[in-house]
Amino acid sequence: MEGFLLNVKSTNISWHRALVDREMREKLLGQNGILIWFTGLSGSGKSTIASELEMRLYNMGRLTYLLDGDNVRHGLNSNLGFTKEDRIENIRRTAEVCKLFVDSGIITISTFISPFKDDRDKVRKLLGKDFVEVYVDCPLEVCESRDPKGIYKKARNGEIKDFTGVDSPYEVPDNPEIVVSTNLDTVQQCVNKILDFLSCKVQE
Ligand code: ADX
Repeated sequence: MEGFLLNVKSTNISWHRALVDREMREKLLGQNGILIWFTGLSGSGKSTIASELEMRLYNMGRLTYLLDGDNVRHGLNSNLGFTKEDRIENIRRTAEVCKLFVDSGIITISTFISPFKDDRDKVRKLLGKDFVEVYVDCPLEVCESRDPKGIYKKARNGEIKDFTGVDSPYEVPDNPEIVVSTNLDTVQQCVNKILDFLSCKVQE
């Protein structure tokens, strides 16, 4: 499994170590940085579950930050589309940003379709022990019947090409830390499952 570091063009650079490090920040915040990486089809419920998770953590006094795929594509990744190459770059950049957030001591939550196993494995490799993969499992027919943004309809009409689940693949994770099934369980049940898993990891 290769990491993200291909096509490196930055040369003659050196790493500067700051006086304030991650351990000091985590001590200040009373928590450990971690990345909770949601993956799943569009309409599977990633954003809904992640937002509710973030609210629950906030109410527990935890500092969080949520990076949402659609939102990040409004700014940092606005020059990327949905070809395989662009999706790879979308995930690469996002993973690097998440790594910075985690290093700051923040409980970082991301919601990207991230359809390719290889890319998710690269994020896992980049973050190491700080990576928690949450597969938001929901059958395509259910996602399509929800169609909150009306985009499955557009994809079926041929107005959108390379749409995940329609004419672009989604590779189901082999071994995610957590699976939540949004067609079977309520939002609160899904969030509780994630919080149970995290309870040992985000302790002071
Ligand atoms: S990813 O595949 O590169 O991880 P990302 O999560 O950033 O995707 O963006 C997915 C969102 O972009 C979807 O929720 C949907 O609103 C929108 N979108 C627009 N075109 C597509 C497409 N071809 N495939 C999937 N999502 C698309």
